[in-house]
Amino acid sequence: MISGAPASGKGTQCELIVQKFGLVHISTGDLLRAEVAAGTEIGNKAKEYMNAGRLVPDEIVNAMVTARLSREDAKQKGWLLDGYPRSSAQAESLEKMQIRPDIYIVLDVPDEILIDRCVGRRLDPVTGKIYHIKNFPAETEEIKSRLITRPDDTEEKVKSRLEIYKKNAEAVSSSYSNITNKINGNRPKEVVFKEIDSLLSQVQNDKVKMIKAE
Ligand code: AP5
Repeated sequence: MISGAPASGKGTQCELIVQKFGLVHISTGDLLRAEVAAGTEIGNKAKEYMNAGRLVPDEIVNAMVTARLSREDAKQKGWLLDGYPRSSAQAESLEKMQIRPDIYIVLDVPDEILIDRCVGRRLDPVTGKIYHIKNFPAETEEIKSRLITRPDDTEEKVKSRLEIYKKNAEAVSSSYSNITNKINGNRPKEVVFKEIDSLLSQVQNDKVKMIKAE
Protein backbone atom coordinates (compact mmCIF):
# COMPACT_ATOMS: atom_id res chain seq x y z
CA MET A 1 0.00 0.00 0.00
CA ILE A 2 1.30 3.44 -0.86
CA SER A 3 0.12 6.64 0.72
CA GLY A 4 1.08 10.30 0.88
CA ALA A 5 -0.24 13.79 0.26
CA PRO A 6 -1.48 14.92 -3.16
CA ALA A 7 1.49 14.95 -5.59
CA SER A 8 3.85 13.25 -3.13
CA GLY A 9 4.74 10.95 -6.06
CA LYS A 10 2.52 7.90 -5.46
CA GLY A 11 1.56 7.43 -9.13
CA THR A 12 5.14 8.03 -10.30
CA GLN A 13 6.54 5.42 -7.89
CA CYS A 14 3.73 2.98 -8.73
CA GLU A 15 4.78 3.04 -12.41
CA LEU A 16 8.29 1.96 -11.34
CA ILE A 17 7.05 -0.61 -8.79
CA VAL A 18 4.76 -2.27 -11.35
CA GLN A 19 7.61 -2.42 -13.90
CA LYS A 20 9.84 -4.27 -11.43
CA PHE A 21 7.44 -6.33 -9.30
CA GLY A 22 4.52 -6.94 -11.70
CA LEU A 23 1.88 -6.14 -9.09
CA VAL A 24 -1.64 -5.08 -10.10
CA HIS A 25 -1.79 -1.30 -9.57
CA ILE A 26 -5.12 -0.23 -8.08
CA SER A 27 -5.31 3.57 -7.90
CA THR A 28 -8.69 4.87 -6.77
CA GLY A 29 -7.91 8.24 -8.38
CA ASP A 30 -7.24 6.54 -11.78
CA LEU A 31 -10.31 4.28 -11.44
CA LEU A 32 -12.51 7.27 -10.65
CA ARG A 33 -11.06 9.38 -13.49
CA ALA A 34 -11.78 6.49 -15.89
CA GLU A 35 -15.41 6.37 -14.67
CA VAL A 36 -15.73 10.13 -15.16
CA ALA A 37 -14.24 9.93 -18.68
CA ALA A 38 -16.62 7.09 -19.60
CA GLY A 39 -19.61 9.08 -18.26
CA THR A 40 -20.85 6.19 -16.08
CA GLU A 41 -23.27 6.62 -13.17
CA ILE A 42 -20.37 6.33 -10.70
CA GLY A 43 -18.39 8.85 -12.74
CA ASN A 44 -21.23 11.35 -12.79
CA LYS A 45 -21.62 11.09 -9.01
CA ALA A 46 -17.85 11.26 -8.35
CA LYS A 47 -17.14 14.17 -10.69
CA GLU A 48 -18.45 17.00 -8.50
CA TYR A 49 -16.50 15.78 -5.47
CA MET A 50 -13.27 15.32 -7.42
CA ASN A 51 -13.49 18.66 -9.19
CA ALA A 52 -14.00 20.35 -5.83
CA GLY A 53 -10.96 18.54 -4.38
CA ARG A 54 -13.13 16.64 -1.86
CA LEU A 55 -13.26 12.92 -1.10
CA VAL A 56 -15.77 10.82 -3.04
CA PRO A 57 -18.25 9.13 -0.62
CA ASP A 58 -16.85 5.98 1.03
CA GLU A 59 -19.58 3.62 -0.22
CA ILE A 60 -18.77 4.40 -3.89
CA VAL A 61 -15.02 3.94 -3.46
CA ASN A 62 -15.30 0.88 -1.18
CA ALA A 63 -17.48 -0.96 -3.71
CA MET A 64 -15.09 -0.11 -6.54
CA VAL A 65 -12.00 -1.33 -4.66
CA THR A 66 -13.69 -4.50 -3.37
CA ALA A 67 -14.68 -5.43 -6.95
CA ARG A 68 -11.17 -4.75 -8.28
CA LEU A 69 -9.39 -6.68 -5.50
CA SER A 70 -11.57 -9.74 -6.10
CA ARG A 71 -10.47 -10.09 -9.72
CA GLU A 72 -8.22 -13.03 -10.56
CA ASP A 73 -5.15 -10.99 -11.63
CA ALA A 74 -5.00 -9.22 -8.24
CA LYS A 75 -5.19 -12.56 -6.44
CA GLN A 76 -2.52 -14.15 -8.65
CA LYS A 77 0.02 -11.34 -8.99
CA GLY A 78 -0.60 -9.42 -5.77
CA TRP A 79 -1.82 -5.84 -5.58
CA LEU A 80 -0.54 -2.34 -4.99
CA LEU A 81 -3.18 -0.04 -3.52
CA ASP A 82 -2.55 3.65 -4.27
CA GLY A 83 -4.66 6.37 -2.63
CA TYR A 84 -6.83 3.92 -0.68
CA PRO A 85 -7.80 3.68 2.15
CA ARG A 86 -8.16 7.42 2.66
CA SER A 87 -10.60 7.51 5.59
CA SER A 88 -11.14 5.37 8.68
CA ALA A 89 -14.35 3.95 7.11
CA GLN A 90 -12.31 2.79 4.10
CA ALA A 91 -9.67 1.19 6.34
CA GLU A 92 -12.47 -0.56 8.26
CA SER A 93 -13.95 -1.86 5.00
CA LEU A 94 -10.64 -3.62 4.24
CA GLU A 95 -10.34 -4.92 7.80
CA LYS A 96 -13.82 -6.46 7.55
CA MET A 97 -12.68 -8.42 4.50
CA GLN A 98 -9.45 -9.30 6.34
CA ILE A 99 -7.39 -7.63 3.65
CA ARG A 100 -4.09 -6.28 4.98
CA PRO A 101 -1.01 -5.11 3.13
CA ASP A 102 2.46 -6.56 3.75
CA ILE A 103 3.86 -3.05 3.93
CA TYR A 104 2.50 0.52 4.19
CA ILE A 105 4.69 3.11 2.48
CA VAL A 106 4.15 6.81 3.18
CA LEU A 107 5.82 9.37 0.90
CA ASP A 108 6.79 12.49 2.83
CA VAL A 109 7.15 15.79 0.90
CA PRO A 110 6.97 19.41 2.19
CA ASP A 111 3.73 21.32 1.41
CA GLU A 112 5.29 24.06 -0.77
CA ILE A 113 6.83 21.43 -3.08
CA LEU A 114 3.50 19.59 -3.38
CA ILE A 115 1.71 22.65 -4.72
CA ASP A 116 4.34 23.24 -7.44
CA ARG A 117 4.22 19.55 -8.41
CA CYS A 118 0.42 19.60 -8.80
CA VAL A 119 0.22 22.83 -10.73
CA GLY A 120 2.98 21.66 -13.12
CA ARG A 121 1.65 18.11 -13.55
CA ARG A 122 0.48 16.95 -16.98
CA LEU A 123 -1.01 13.56 -17.93
CA ASP A 124 -0.76 11.63 -21.17
CA PRO A 125 -4.32 10.39 -21.88
CA VAL A 126 -2.96 7.75 -24.28
CA THR A 127 -0.39 6.00 -22.06
CA GLY A 128 -1.50 7.24 -18.62
CA LYS A 129 2.09 8.40 -17.98
CA ILE A 130 2.66 11.27 -15.53
CA TYR A 131 4.75 14.30 -16.56
CA HIS A 132 5.72 17.66 -15.06
CA ILE A 133 6.33 20.79 -17.14
CA LYS A 134 9.74 21.39 -15.47
CA ASN A 135 10.75 18.17 -13.67
CA PHE A 136 9.66 15.59 -16.26
CA PRO A 137 8.85 17.20 -19.62
CA ALA A 138 7.37 15.12 -22.48
CA GLU A 139 9.90 13.20 -24.56
CA THR A 140 8.54 14.33 -27.95
CA GLU A 141 6.50 17.21 -29.43
CA GLU A 142 3.77 14.72 -30.33
CA ILE A 143 3.36 13.63 -26.69
CA LYS A 144 3.61 17.25 -25.49
CA SER A 145 0.75 18.32 -27.77
CA ARG A 146 -1.68 15.78 -26.29
CA LEU A 147 -0.92 16.27 -22.57
CA ILE A 148 -3.81 17.30 -20.33
CA THR A 149 -4.10 19.05 -16.96
CA ARG A 150 -6.29 17.54 -14.22
CA PRO A 151 -9.22 19.81 -13.27
CA ASP A 152 -8.32 19.42 -9.57
CA ASP A 153 -4.72 20.61 -10.05
CA THR A 154 -5.29 24.34 -9.45
CA GLU A 155 -3.47 25.90 -6.48
CA GLU A 156 -6.73 26.51 -4.60
CA LYS A 157 -7.98 22.91 -5.02
CA VAL A 158 -4.60 21.43 -4.16
CA LYS A 159 -4.66 23.35 -0.86
CA SER A 160 -8.10 21.94 -0.09
CA ARG A 161 -6.99 18.37 -1.03
CA LEU A 162 -3.94 18.75 1.20
CA GLU A 163 -6.06 19.88 4.13
CA ILE A 164 -8.39 16.88 3.73
CA TYR A 165 -5.39 14.55 3.45
CA LYS A 166 -3.92 15.88 6.71
CA LYS A 167 -7.26 15.55 8.50
CA ASN A 168 -7.56 11.85 7.59
CA ALA A 169 -3.91 10.74 7.49
CA GLU A 170 -3.55 9.82 11.15
CA ALA A 171 -6.80 7.85 11.39
CA VAL A 172 -5.77 5.73 8.41
CA SER A 173 -2.10 5.26 9.27
CA SER A 174 -2.94 4.11 12.82
CA SER A 175 -4.39 0.93 11.24
CA TYR A 176 -0.97 0.10 9.79
CA SER A 177 1.47 1.53 12.33
CA ASN A 178 3.39 -1.75 12.76
CA ILE A 179 4.12 -2.03 9.01
CA THR A 180 4.61 1.68 8.18
CA ASN A 181 7.72 2.91 6.37
CA LYS A 182 7.96 6.68 5.95
CA ILE A 183 10.14 7.69 3.02
CA ASN A 184 11.54 11.10 2.10
CA GLY A 185 9.79 11.74 -1.25
CA ASN A 186 11.56 15.05 -1.83
CA ARG A 187 14.45 13.48 -3.75
CA PRO A 188 14.90 12.46 -7.39
CA LYS A 189 12.36 9.78 -8.29
CA GLU A 190 15.08 7.17 -8.96
CA VAL A 191 16.52 7.70 -5.46
CA VAL A 192 13.07 7.38 -3.87
CA PHE A 193 12.45 4.23 -5.89
CA LYS A 194 15.75 2.68 -4.80
CA GLU A 195 14.59 2.83 -1.19
CA ILE A 196 11.13 1.43 -2.03
CA ASP A 197 12.71 -1.29 -4.18
CA SER A 198 14.87 -2.41 -1.29
CA LEU A 199 11.89 -2.51 1.12
CA LEU A 200 9.70 -4.47 -1.32
CA SER A 201 12.51 -6.90 -2.16
CA GLN A 202 12.85 -7.59 1.56
CA VAL A 203 9.09 -8.26 1.84
CA GLN A 204 9.31 -10.57 -1.19
CA ASN A 205 12.29 -12.50 0.26
CA ASP A 206 10.54 -12.91 3.62
CA LYS A 207 7.45 -14.31 1.85
CA VAL A 208 9.50 -16.79 -0.16
CA LYS A 209 11.21 -17.97 3.06
CA MET A 210 7.82 -18.35 4.77
CA ILE A 211 6.38 -20.39 1.89
CA LYS A 212 9.46 -22.66 1.84
CA ALA A 213 9.18 -23.23 5.58
CA GLU A 214 5.51 -24.30 5.35
P1 AP5 B 1 -5.72 10.88 -6.58
O1 AP5 B 1 -5.56 10.75 -8.03
O2 AP5 B 1 -5.42 9.73 -5.71
O3 AP5 B 1 -4.92 12.17 -6.14
P2 AP5 B 1 -3.93 12.48 -4.93
O4 AP5 B 1 -3.87 11.56 -3.78
O5 AP5 B 1 -4.25 13.87 -4.60
O6 AP5 B 1 -2.57 12.19 -5.53
P3 AP5 B 1 -2.07 12.68 -6.89
O7 AP5 B 1 -2.55 11.79 -7.97
O8 AP5 B 1 -2.40 14.15 -6.99
O9 AP5 B 1 -0.50 12.63 -6.72
P4 AP5 B 1 0.56 11.45 -6.67
O10 AP5 B 1 1.02 11.30 -5.25
O11 AP5 B 1 0.11 10.25 -7.40
O12 AP5 B 1 1.74 12.18 -7.45
P5 AP5 B 1 2.30 11.98 -8.95
O13 AP5 B 1 3.13 10.77 -9.02
O14 AP5 B 1 1.19 12.17 -9.94
O15 AP5 B 1 -7.21 11.34 -6.24
C1 AP5 B 1 -7.84 12.37 -6.94
C2 AP5 B 1 -9.24 12.59 -6.37
O16 AP5 B 1 -10.02 11.37 -6.51
C3 AP5 B 1 -9.30 12.91 -4.86
O17 AP5 B 1 -9.13 14.28 -4.61
C4 AP5 B 1 -10.72 12.43 -4.53
O18 AP5 B 1 -11.69 13.34 -4.96
C5 AP5 B 1 -10.84 11.16 -5.38
N1 AP5 B 1 -10.36 9.98 -4.65
C6 AP5 B 1 -9.27 9.21 -4.96
N2 AP5 B 1 -9.13 8.21 -4.08
C7 AP5 B 1 -10.15 8.33 -3.20
C8 AP5 B 1 -10.53 7.62 -2.04
N3 AP5 B 1 -9.84 6.55 -1.61
N4 AP5 B 1 -11.64 8.03 -1.37
C9 AP5 B 1 -12.36 9.09 -1.77
N5 AP5 B 1 -12.04 9.83 -2.86
C10 AP5 B 1 -10.95 9.45 -3.56
O19 AP5 B 1 3.29 13.23 -9.02
C11 AP5 B 1 2.82 14.55 -9.00
C12 AP5 B 1 3.72 15.45 -9.86
O20 AP5 B 1 5.02 15.52 -9.29
C13 AP5 B 1 3.92 14.93 -11.29
O21 AP5 B 1 3.97 16.01 -12.18
C14 AP5 B 1 5.26 14.20 -11.23
O22 AP5 B 1 5.90 14.19 -12.49
C15 AP5 B 1 6.02 15.00 -10.18
N6 AP5 B 1 6.93 14.17 -9.39
C16 AP5 B 1 6.69 12.92 -8.91
N7 AP5 B 1 7.76 12.46 -8.22
C17 AP5 B 1 8.68 13.46 -8.23
C18 AP5 B 1 10.01 13.59 -7.67
N8 AP5 B 1 10.57 12.63 -6.95
N9 AP5 B 1 10.66 14.77 -7.89
C19 AP5 B 1 10.10 15.77 -8.61
N10 AP5 B 1 8.86 15.70 -9.18
C20 AP5 B 1 8.16 14.56 -8.97
